[in-house]
Amino acid sequence: MRSEILTILHKANGEYVSGAYLAEKLSVSRTAIWKHICILRKEGYNIDSKSRSGYRIISAPDLLTPGEIKAVLQTKFFGNEIKYYKTVDSTNNAAKKAALEDAAEGTVIVSEAQGSGRGRIGRGWFSPSQKGIWFSIILRPQFLPQEAPKCTLMAAVAITKAISAITGVTVGIKWPNDILYNGKKLVGILTEMNAEMDRINYVIIGMGVNVNISEQDMPADIGQIATSLLQITGAKVSRASLLAQILLELERAYYDIKQYGFSTILAEWKKYSVTLGNNVKVISVNETFYGKAIDIDDYGALLIDTGKKVVRVLAGDVSIRSAK
Ligand code: BTN
Repeated sequence: MRSEILTILHKANGEYVSGAYLAEKLSVSRTAIWKHICILRKEGYNIDSKSRSGYRIISAPDLLTPGEIKAVLQTKFFGNEIKYYKTVDSTNNAAKKAALEDAAEGTVIVSEAQGSGRGRIGRGWFSPSQKGIWFSIILRPQFLPQEAPKCTLMAAVAITKAISAITGVTVGIKWPNDILYNGKKLVGILTEMNAEMDRINYVIIGMGVNVNISEQDMPADIGQIATSLLQITGAKVSRASLLAQILLELERAYYDIKQYGFSTILAEWKKYSVTLGNNVKVISVNETFYGKAIDIDDYGALLIDTGKKVVRVLAGDVSIRSAK
């Protein structure tokens, strides 16, 4: 209910909205609206009220509440359902639980902070409160399980376009799941799935976007390898607007793939790639080898030319380093 009130007040762009209008639109009494306004004020919203005019928003707290996101969200399906946490262990864990409880495709789990944010290959993910976008989305694609890496590539393309649209910053994609700026990590993507032999039950795409983390806020070891939009642009970025844009780009890409196949996304991924054409070191559990990253195939596997043969590398437990 509060999320709907906020959406209406935000869309009024600072104009008053009458209590009677809100009550009728949301099928509740004017007293109920008033009670919700009081709770919103306690949550940090500065809402002005004037007799005979109604309510208007003067300022909103910097939060990723469903109300803040939906006020700027332009999607048809993605984010229709948003589960919001002040803090959670990992949004991917919360998303898995929701998926097992039959959450609809496109459900978004977002948290201001994560206590045990997870990265690839058992790594952690630094997730300080209100400084980034830590979220996961549930998909139920009709792909075969071996095609699931396509979701990671699709997510990488979507976030790259969203960052460019909102901030004008051009970033690069390092195979399979890192978004880099000047060699430093800006975004990480963790795709996880639950599948049978021949069909996917659900895919969780988890994204960590370093938005408003200052240099001082980053532990020194992380600061060596990671950056944030604040550090790149020198200005705070609206997390709600960026998340809404990410969801829009993701939705467009997902339905394009459904309708026209994967080739357009693959071509876009190649355009943004900072891996292809470079000499790389491939580190897997069993071996380490060097070669040139020459292409990715239709399943999102990286093709490495070692000089003797072309090796097909799947995302799984592999990590890639520059061989320079
Ligand atoms: C990586 O680069 O290793 C992937 C990092 C993914 C981090 C995000 S933050 C939101 C979601 N929840 C998690 O626990 N991890 C992902």
